[in-house]
Amino acid sequence: MDGTTLRTPRLSLRQVGDGDVDRILEYRNLPEVTYWLLRTEVEPAAFRAAWRRAADDPDDHSRAVVLDGLVIGTVSLDVLDGMGQPGMPTRTEAQLGYIFDPAHGGRGYATEAVTAMVGYAFTRLGVRRITAGCFADNLASVRVLEKVGMRREQHGVGDSWHAERGWVDGYTYALCADAWPAPPR
Ligand SMILES: CC(C)(COP(=O)(O)OP(=O)(O)OC[C@H]1O[C@@H](n2cnc3c(N)ncnc32)[C@H](O)[C@@H]1OP(=O)(O)O)[C@@H](O)C(=O)NCCC(=O)NCCS
Repeated sequence: MDGTTLRTPRLSLRQVGDGDVDRILEYRNLPEVTYWLLRTEVEPAAFRAAWRRAADDPDDHSRAVVLDGLVIGTVSLDVLDGMGQPGMPTRTEAQLGYIFDPAHGGRGYATEAVTAMVGYAFTRLGVRRITAGCFADNLASVRVLEKVGMRREQHGVGDSWHAERGWVDGYTYALCADAWPAPPR
């Protein structure tokens, strides 16, 4: 990543440093946080090592979301190749993810931070398409994606395994650069 700090009216999005990991771990393994994640509970040492690797990975643009000096969440953006025949421009697609501290939930912070990351990906990173997946019943996540203006492109019936619920439906959302900025919903 290029280390740029992104700013919104209330938040800044900056690179995750070693010193942030303990703070992120204060909420990352809470049951209400892990409930809808594919990677449920994380082991602290492996989690710290993964953030160190992310900082050195040019395709990883994840950032900590900071409110008044406190990290309240993370937004991940991994740039990758889409599908295509030989000659396809590389590194034009990105996968989006986000995890926020529930103590700060429901105040629009995730939407604000994700909107900033999407704008950055389209305008600064040259990404042309962004995708995000979620469990269909993760209503807060669905709402964030729709508020950001992403389009539901796939409803996978019974395609996703949930440890407590069994096979459940999953959604894939996407947005292309030529549809950005998307009208608010
Ligand atoms: C999903 C998550 C990022 C949302 O964070 P947040 O800061 O509360 O998000 P926002 O405040 O920007 O928006 C949340 C929206 O979801 C809605 N919402 C929250 N819980 C809901 C529920 N149970 N049913 C319906 N809507 C719900 C809120 O009302 C709000 O919509 P509104 O602005 O139209 O009222 C946060 O809950 C989280 O980190 N969850 C755990 C990890 C996770 O699921 N990550 C996504 C994996 S795909």
